[in-house]
Amino acid sequence: MIIEPRMRGFICLTAHPTGCAQNVKNQINYVKAQGKIDGAKRVLVIGASTGFGLASRITSAFGCGASTIGVFFEKPGTEGKTASPGWYNSAAFEQEAHAAGLYAKSINGDAFSEDIKAQTIATIKADLGQVDLVIYSLASPVRMHPTTGVLHRSALKPIGGTFTNKTVDFHTGNVTQVSIEPATQEDIDNTVVVMGGEDWSMWMDAMQKAGVLAEGAMTLAYSYIGPEVTKAVYRNGTIGRAKDHLEATAATITEQLQALGGKAYVSVNKALVTQASSAIPVIPLYISLLYKIMKREGIHEGCIEQMDRLYRARLYAGTPISLDAENRIRIDDWEMRDDVQAEVARLWEEATTESLVELGDLAGYKNDFLNLFGFGFEGVDYLADVNEVVSIPSIS
Ligand code: NAI
Ligand code: NA
Repeated sequence: MIIEPRMRGFICLTAHPTGCAQNVKNQINYVKAQGKIDGAKRVLVIGASTGFGLASRITSAFGCGASTIGVFFEKPGTEGKTASPGWYNSAAFEQEAHAAGLYAKSINGDAFSEDIKAQTIATIKADLGQVDLVIYSLASPVRMHPTTGVLHRSALKPIGGTFTNKTVDFHTGNVTQVSIEPATQEDIDNTVVVMGGEDWSMWMDAMQKAGVLAEGAMTLAYSYIGPEVTKAVYRNGTIGRAKDHLEATAATITEQLQALGGKAYVSVNKALVTQASSAIPVIPLYISLLYKIMKREGIHEGCIEQMDRLYRARLYAGTPISLDAENRIRIDDWEMRDDVQAEVARLWEEATTESLVELGDLAGYKNDFLNLFGFGFEGVDYLADVNEVVSIPSIS
C-alpha cells in the first residue's frame, strides 16, 4: 500500500518500511565513514530498535564489527496496518548486518519479564557463548514487575509544587503556558520502578549467574540531565528520581561484577527527538531552541553521532574512560557548554508563537520526528506501493 504519516498527538500511527530502512542505512554509512573501532565483539542491546539503542547496535556492528543480539518490544505489520518503526528498523538492520557477514539476532518481547531474559541468555549461550558489552536503553511508560505481577505506570511530573512554563506544540508551532500538577509519592515510586535501575540490575544478575558475561564485561545505561528550564519537570521531577536511581545502580552492578572484573557505567546523553522525549512537556521547545544554536555552532548531533562519539572518544579511546564527579560518562558535554546554555536561556525568554519561527528550529524538530517513523528521507519514493508486512529474518 501507499503509506503516509498519520499523526495523533505526540505519536504517528503509521511507519514507512523503506524510509525506516533508509534511516538505518544512513546511520550505518555514518559509522562506516568514521572508520573502524577497536571495541566489543559480542554485544547485547536491550532497547535496540529505536533511538539511542538502535544507534548503539549500529555502532557496535558497523564500527566494532560486533555480533549483536537486540531485544525490543515492537509490533509487526499486518495486511493494511503498518508495523511500529522499531520493527522495520530491526528488519533493515538485520538484513544489512547479514549482508556484511555479521551475526545479528533479535528478540521481540517484554524485556522486564523473566521469560525474555531467559530467552536472551539461551540465545547468547547457544550462539555467542558470552557477551563483552551490554547496552541498556529501554524507555517505557509501564513495567509489569516480574516478581509481584504489579503493573507500574511512570509519571512525568514535578515534585513538591505545580510547575508552570512554556511549551510548544511542534505540529502547529503554538507556544503556550503549560502547568503540571505535582507528583504524589506513589507517582514517584512507580516512576523509579519503571525507569530506575532495578531491571538493569536484574538483567546483569541473571546474566552473571548464567555465566554469559565475559571477563571484563562492560554494561552501560543512558541518562539525562538537561537545562535549568526543564529541571523542575525533568531532573528534579519523577523521571529525575528514576535517573538518580539508575545512576546509583551503576555502582551496585560494578560491585556485583567484581569477580569477573566487570564495570557498569551510565552515559549522560544529549537531548534528542525520540518517541520518548516528544511526550515530555517543555522539552520540545527546549530542543527546538537547542537545535538552532547547536546547528549554528556546528556541534549538532543526532543519535548516531552521539553513540559513535561515545564509543570512539569515551569507551574505546584507548585511555581510561573520563568520568564526571559522579562517575558518569558525559556525552552531553556540547549541549551543556556554558555558551550554549546561556543562549538557550536568553532565547527561552523571547520565545513566542511568532518569534519561534526565527529563534527556534521547529522545521528540524518536525523533520526529526517524521524521520522516527521513516518519513521525510531523501531518496525514498513515498508514492510507491510498498509491502507493509516485513519480516525480521531471525524472528520469522
Ligand atoms: P526510544 O523510545 O527511542 O527507545 C526505547 C527502546 O526500548 C525501543 O527499542 C523499545 O522497543 C524498547 N522497549 C520499550 N519498552 C520495552 C519493553 N517492555 N521490553 C523490551 N523493549 C522495550 O527511547 P530513547 O530516547 O532512545 O531512550 C533510551 C534511553 O536513553 C532512555 O533511558 C532515555 O531516558 C535515555 N535518554 C534519552 C534522551 C532523549 O533525549 N531522547 C536523552 C538522554 C538519555
Ligand atoms: Na533506545
